[in-house]
Amino acid sequence: MRVQLKEDAICTLILVLSFCTLLYFQLGQTSSRGNKERNHTKPPMKSRDPPSTVDLRRHPKPRHISDFKQAKPVYKELKHSTIAPAVTYSSFDFQQYLRNKDKRNYNLLINQPNKCIKNPKDPFLLIAIKSTVEDFDRREIVRKTWGREGSINGMHIKRVFLLGVPRNKIAVAMWETLVNHESQTYKDVLLWDFLDTFFNLTLKEIHFLNWAAEFCSNVNFIFKGDNDVFVNMENIVDFLEVHSPTEDLFVGDIISHAKPIRLRKSKYFIPEIMYGLGIYPPYAGGGGFLMSGITMKKLSRACKDVELFPIDDVFLGMCLQRINLKPVSHDGFKTFGIGKPSAAPHLQTFDPCFYKDLMVVHSLKVSEIWLMWNLLRNHNLSCSKKQRAGKPFYWERKKVVA
Ligand SMILES: *[C@@H]1O[C@H](CO)[C@@H](O)[C@H](O)[C@H]1NC(C)=O
Ligand SMILES: *[C@@H]1O[C@H](CO)[C@@H](O)[C@H](O)[C@H]1NC(C)=O
Ligand SMILES: *[C@@H]1O[C@H](CO)[C@@H](O)[C@H](O)[C@H]1NC(C)=O
Repeated sequence: MRVQLKEDAICTLILVLSFCTLLYFQLGQTSSRGNKERNHTKPPMKSRDPPSTVDLRRHPKPRHISDFKQAKPVYKELKHSTIAPAVTYSSFDFQQYLRNKDKRNYNLLINQPNKCIKNPKDPFLLIAIKSTVEDFDRREIVRKTWGREGSINGMHIKRVFLLGVPRNKIAVAMWETLVNHESQTYKDVLLWDFLDTFFNLTLKEIHFLNWAAEFCSNVNFIFKGDNDVFVNMENIVDFLEVHSPTEDLFVGDIISHAKPIRLRKSKYFIPEIMYGLGIYPPYAGGGGFLMSGITMKKLSRACKDVELFPIDDVFLGMCLQRINLKPVSHDGFKTFGIGKPSAAPHLQTFDPCFYKDLMVVHSLKVSEIWLMWNLLRNHNLSCSKKQRAGKPFYWERKKVVA
């Protein structure tokens, strides 16, 4: 056991170092892809967006955490970080996309065929996380915190990361060796042979659904999300306990009545040749959603008949529409970031209790994921349920007696 642990630690260290080196070269040569994705995954074309939510998403407010001593050093470091400008949609070649959109079957380069064969009788939840080869540190933090494999309240949790081929193969020359090594170490990597770009996330969606239908057809539920979220797995499991895997379920932060943006200079521009209708079907935006095993299988079939669309969230909405399934909104998926969330204007300061009943917190840095994980597991954190008129309950931190 000891030796095993030691090996794991050494392995992790080697991987971290290698990926850091790669990242260093990568950053020198490419624009920052992660940031670009971050902006695009936000639901941009919601027609009646509550202004407060939009504000928070686009201009993160300064954080108010003065009352939380442990968190201070981390926040100091975070405040200085800025977001680099993203590549805009208008530079995207729609004609090319339309010409190539029948090419939608790519090989699986790394598989985890045994991921779902254990514990066939136990209910289980598969966590599927969109990541990129370069984001090794994010995969590590997810593995060590909320994305741990194991059991919560008798529900078995399994995990896979969804990867494509990195764009700049010259800069990341050794990537194949590294990813193979990572896959052997953790047995949680799925890699497909398409370029891992924002506009190819739809391919990732399709390929994941097909993989799940083939290799994980016995799964009860799936949480699919980004690699920059914190997920409160206990809350997810609580929520799922009253649901049946054989009934349809699709829950998330659902965006309805969103209009395609026709302004050419907008980064969310979608021309009419790409989408002629005035409104998108309801879709799950933000950092993650839940579905049942049966819904996964239906979607996997339905998506085969839907033409590729460059926004993966919307594409999945189109598949849902095809099977006539209305996605369900849940407040627990709505909160963006940490600090003083727009969803909690009543909070004067950063209050970890606010996060206790949430399912997903979006757009986090690696250090913030670590912070959330530690905050919510601190047994000294004592929260009490408060009811607000017309709102779901929230938790409020009890005064700590010094
Ligand atoms: C995201 O969008 C906002 C406004 O739409 C912009 O101010 C910001 O610079 C963008 N961030 C990135 C990473 O492009
Ligand atoms: C998607 O991946 C394919 C295969 O690697 C590549 O040819 C294509 O350019 C990518 N599409 C986009 C929009 O990035
Ligand atoms: C919980 O409180 C005790 C007593 O005040 C303290 O010794 C301990 O370090 C605290 N634990 C955490 C994780 O903050």
